[in-house]
Amino acid sequence: MTVFRPRLRGLVSKLALFYVLLSLPTLIVVESAILIYEFQRFTSGVRASSLDHAAQRGARELSGLWPHLRGTGTEDTTALQLWLDAWILRLQQPHGGLTPDESYVLLELTEVPLGAAIVGADSRVLAQSGGDANWLLDLPTRDEVARARQARDRSAIELSGSSDSYTIQRVLVPLEGAAGQTGEFLFIELRVPSPWRHLLFDTSFESPTVFAFLIVFGLASSIFLAAWVTRRLSHIARAATAWSRGDFSNRIDDRSGDEIGGLSRMLDGMALDLRSLLRSRAQLATLAERQRLARDLHDTVKQKAFALNLQLATVRRMLGDSAGGSRLEPAQRLTQQIQQELGQILDEMRASDAELPFAERVRMRANDWAHTSGASLGFAIDDIPSLAPADEDSLLRVVDEALSNVLRHSGAQHVDLSLRRTAERVSLVIADNGHGASDESGGGMGLRNMRERVEALPGGRFDFESSPGRGARVTVSFRIEEPR
Ligand SMILES: Nc1ncnc2c1ncn2[C@@H]1O[C@H](COP(=O)(O)OP(=O)(O)OP(=O)(O)O)[C@@H](O)[C@H]1O
Ligand SMILES: [Mg+2]
Repeated sequence: MTVFRPRLRGLVSKLALFYVLLSLPTLIVVESAILIYEFQRFTSGVRASSLDHAAQRGARELSGLWPHLRGTGTEDTTALQLWLDAWILRLQQPHGGLTPDESYVLLELTEVPLGAAIVGADSRVLAQSGGDANWLLDLPTRDEVARARQARDRSAIELSGSSDSYTIQRVLVPLEGAAGQTGEFLFIELRVPSPWRHLLFDTSFESPTVFAFLIVFGLASSIFLAAWVTRRLSHIARAATAWSRGDFSNRIDDRSGDEIGGLSRMLDGMALDLRSLLRSRAQLATLAERQRLARDLHDTVKQKAFALNLQLATVRRMLGDSAGGSRLEPAQRLTQQIQQELGQILDEMRASDAELPFAERVRMRANDWAHTSGASLGFAIDDIPSLAPADEDSLLRVVDEALSNVLRHSGAQHVDLSLRRTAERVSLVIADNGHGASDESGGGMGLRNMRERVEALPGGRFDFESSPGRGARVTVSFRIEEPR
């Protein structure tokens, strides 16, 4: 018995490969689309001066705290440094940070994209936060500080900064004390990589996680699917093995509506057809054997019994009423009984073929006819559903009459018989290659009877075509209906 097991080169690995190959590019496309969209929103939000506002808010806060943080005249900048670090941390917060709506991008990035510094009047850096070995803050130059000092609108000065693979924004905001400007500045720099750069070069925990998920998901679902499919294939294989042994009691019985279910139903149907075909073949073989025996008995034993009876009668007549003659009487009676009983046995042996499928009955009639007529036969016979018994008998009479007409009137050497089935109708054609009918009107009752029989069938149509020298053709067709 064949049982399918998931194999390495089988469905499991193919499905797993298929899942990974399909889902990986899909994932990359979806991830890229989301990233590009989020980064665009973020950078346009920052461009629409949210960085300026954050810097101004920071400068106001720092200005308020300046006396406490700086003290008077001391060089110690630790407090400034602490405030700056705390401020940068606050700006990264998802809510209330730099850009509350776009905080997702800041969380997404592995490196902090913000750097800040407190710059003195002489552009000396008092405190600095952010930046690392790969990213040195682009601190304001002496010129930039001088220009900021002279600028008219002194709330927030945007400095230039550009790079192909980063969006860079630099903002300088003057600090204000109670007596006006203190001369110091709060400087902030934002450096966000382009979405593509982020996707390709920045390592994040997401990609390995998603990749691992894909592998696990792909393997798990393919193992599950393959086990499910192979289990159903095993059912099919088991049933097919049973059928090949001639056991048609086994059915696949897969009721699901998918392709395997459809295939299973087709195979179940095929097994039923095969079973009835085998049965009718077996019946046919038995019947053919019975008929051969009957023919042999008829041609040998029955003829000899007949001849014996004739000889006994002759001898009896010759002997007359003598003692010998009367002794022959029981012998002759016995021979007659033998003839009679043999006749009965032969009738039984030529038992009715009514149990056979209709197509087989037609074929047998035609073969018997060919046997007696000596003409050759061409068949084109489809399996057709069983008809009502009376209709089958009627059609067989039509076949008999058409073949008998061929023998009596056509002189044909060959007859083509076709029994064809379409979705709704059956057609039966008997065509000969004889000399054809010159005039069928003067005939007997055969054609009329055939027409009447056929027209009594559901949707029955009868046609007889013939012209001299071109043979004759009887065409019958009728509609298939559920047996009545
Ligand atoms: N296959 C054929 N080839 C040539 N002529 C045919 C063929 N079938 C029928 N005919 C012609 O059609 C006539 C009518 O046939 P139909 O069967 O009605 O009568 P029949 O065979 O002569 O007599 P009945 O069938 O009553 O014994 C026939 O006499 C014959 O001339
Ligand atoms: Mg006839």
